[in-house]
Amino acid sequence: MTPSRRGFSLLAALSLSLAVDAVTQCSCTVDTFKQILAGNAAASVNYVASVPQGGSFGDAATNLAFPTNATDLPALCAVSIHIVSSPTSSYNFGVFLPESWNGRIMTTGNGGLGGGINYPDMGKFSLYGFATVSTDTGHNSNAVDGTWALNQPEMIIDWGWRAMHGSVVTAKEIVNAFYGRSIEYSYYASCSTGGRQGIKELELYPDSFDGVVAGAPAWWFPRLPASTLKQGLYNYPVGKEGYISPSLFPAIVAEMIKQCDPQDGLVDGVINDPFSCNFDFNSLLCLPGQANSSCLTAAQISTARQFYSNFVDVNQTFIFPGVSLGVDPSLVLSAVSTLGSDYYQYWVLNQTEWDITNFDYADIQLAEEINPGQAAPSDFDLSSFKDRGGKLLQYHGLADNLIATKSSFVLYDNIYEKMAPQGVDLDDFYRLFMIPGMQHCSGSEMPAPWYIGGGSQAVTGATYSVPGYMDAKHDVILAMMEWVERGVAPDELIATKYWNDTVSEGVEVQRPLCVYPKQAKYIGGNPSVPSSWKCKSLY
Ligand SMILES: *[C@@H]1O[C@H](CO)[C@@H](O)[C@H](O)[C@H]1NC(C)=O
Ligand SMILES: *[C@@H]1O[C@H](CO)[C@@H](O)[C@H](O)[C@H]1NC(C)=O
Ligand SMILES: *[C@@H]1O[C@H](CO)[C@@H](O)[C@H](O)[C@H]1NC(C)=O
Ligand SMILES: *[C@@H]1O[C@H](CO)[C@@H](O)[C@H](O)[C@H]1NC(C)=O
Ligand SMILES: *[C@@H]1O[C@H](CO)[C@@H](O)[C@H](O)[C@H]1NC(C)=O
Repeated sequence: MTPSRRGFSLLAALSLSLAVDAVTQCSCTVDTFKQILAGNAAASVNYVASVPQGGSFGDAATNLAFPTNATDLPALCAVSIHIVSSPTSSYNFGVFLPESWNGRIMTTGNGGLGGGINYPDMGKFSLYGFATVSTDTGHNSNAVDGTWALNQPEMIIDWGWRAMHGSVVTAKEIVNAFYGRSIEYSYYASCSTGGRQGIKELELYPDSFDGVVAGAPAWWFPRLPASTLKQGLYNYPVGKEGYISPSLFPAIVAEMIKQCDPQDGLVDGVINDPFSCNFDFNSLLCLPGQANSSCLTAAQISTARQFYSNFVDVNQTFIFPGVSLGVDPSLVLSAVSTLGSDYYQYWVLNQTEWDITNFDYADIQLAEEINPGQAAPSDFDLSSFKDRGGKLLQYHGLADNLIATKSSFVLYDNIYEKMAPQGVDLDDFYRLFMIPGMQHCSGSEMPAPWYIGGGSQAVTGATYSVPGYMDAKHDVILAMMEWVERGVAPDELIATKYWNDTVSEGVEVQRPLCVYPKQAKYIGGNPSVPSSWKCKSLY
């Protein structure tokens, strides 16, 4: 490789310092990466491209999971690598190597059952100066398509953890060699399946990351797809007794906001504490003379109750928590999501013809026995990660409309039960933040602030971070860096909502998010500003 001397600049906004030398970067050519990977027989170079400042890059035309290129990039070298993982499987990953490197690496993840390099989030994180990494997990499909897994056990393993781990290991070699200098810190940030991937990796390989930001983690396999399938079946088939037409969903959500919003102490259109709300389902019942466009029959109310209640199967076996009050059912009740049915059909049962209405507890038991791809953490003792100084920040929307919010509490409880008896104060290395009103990973129906610059979050007009507030109080990535590099743990984060989720329209509301189990309580003043709220213990 032909090294060239390039200047090294730190993003001023970070105000985090590194011992800096001039960086020796290799040239952005196929030869460079062939040489770096010369000792790795499983690896080959797919493509290498030099991207100018302000340029874009991706594989939008063929990438089913991320069919949009990363745009507004800093000047960088983009490379994609192919790794053979078994005789019947292989995966790819991409690396962005910015010319102005901050000495750190950031890995990001995927969504659902999909496969594709997450160039959009790589691009976003490269704007901080990170070298960024993402794997396609070994296949090309959109997030809700699981058909690729039929009789492909090795591909399922790649999806479960192997592609992530292999990509991180090889990407680190590439970054070290390309810049001729060792990576100072390694981070991870992503949401949903991306949240699961980060936690799985830190459990299996505690040395991979110094800091992991895991949003709405889809960690609980095979229970989560069981829940998704069950939810769809509550309202299937169309027209059955108790079937709720999607046209009635807004009436259900509106009644929940009407009853639950005041119960949190402030009428602001946001349900801050859905789990403390006493909700009267009967108020949804159609009374004589009432038009049926905004009320439910008794049978429809039963269907709604199932959706918002825990999924409990034979012999009172708790399978998965129900969604929060106030959640919009559209995503999973309008039709049976293939996120649940494809998993059971093509990963577990392997039947090309399968009647989803036959789904029962025996299928869940079988799935747990097979445990496709070992996707869930198998050990909740994260001592190895903690002992080497690793930090885990988890967040979850309180109105998640795809992955029941309470499944994050189940993960927290599992880790607590393992580690607290060893004398570990979880807050020292693991903090969970709930985001009132936020749906799955991003967005809110209610006028609730949700934007913290996390994985797969986007607002119009922001290329990265939280415009106007690029600091560790508002930006979860900078918060994690402060925690890892300076030992300043985030006691609260401030979530932002721009008007119409558009930066140029200004900030509509900001509010603190608290370390679980604390909650933000209104203490008076303008409810749209953070100082009117305080993180309080519930007891
Ligand atoms: C995405 O980027 C690739 C690589 O730079 C380019 O070839 C392709 O035309 C771009 N596609 C779109 C839709 O912009
Ligand atoms: C379905 O195929 C997977 C491999 O893709 C295998 O692990 C599993 O045991 C199979 N299921 C059954 C019921 O044979
Ligand atoms: C309301 O009732 C009419 C007449 O029974 C029926 O055709 C229609 O589907 C109902 N609408 C809803 C939203 O249930
Ligand atoms: C439920 O409990 C009964 C009584 O203990 C037991 O015989 C049966 O096998 C259980 N069913 C399942 C599916 O575990
Ligand atoms: C937000 O968008 C709506 C239309 O979608 C518009 O009426 C409103 O003025 C916008 N809000 C601001 C603050 O620009």
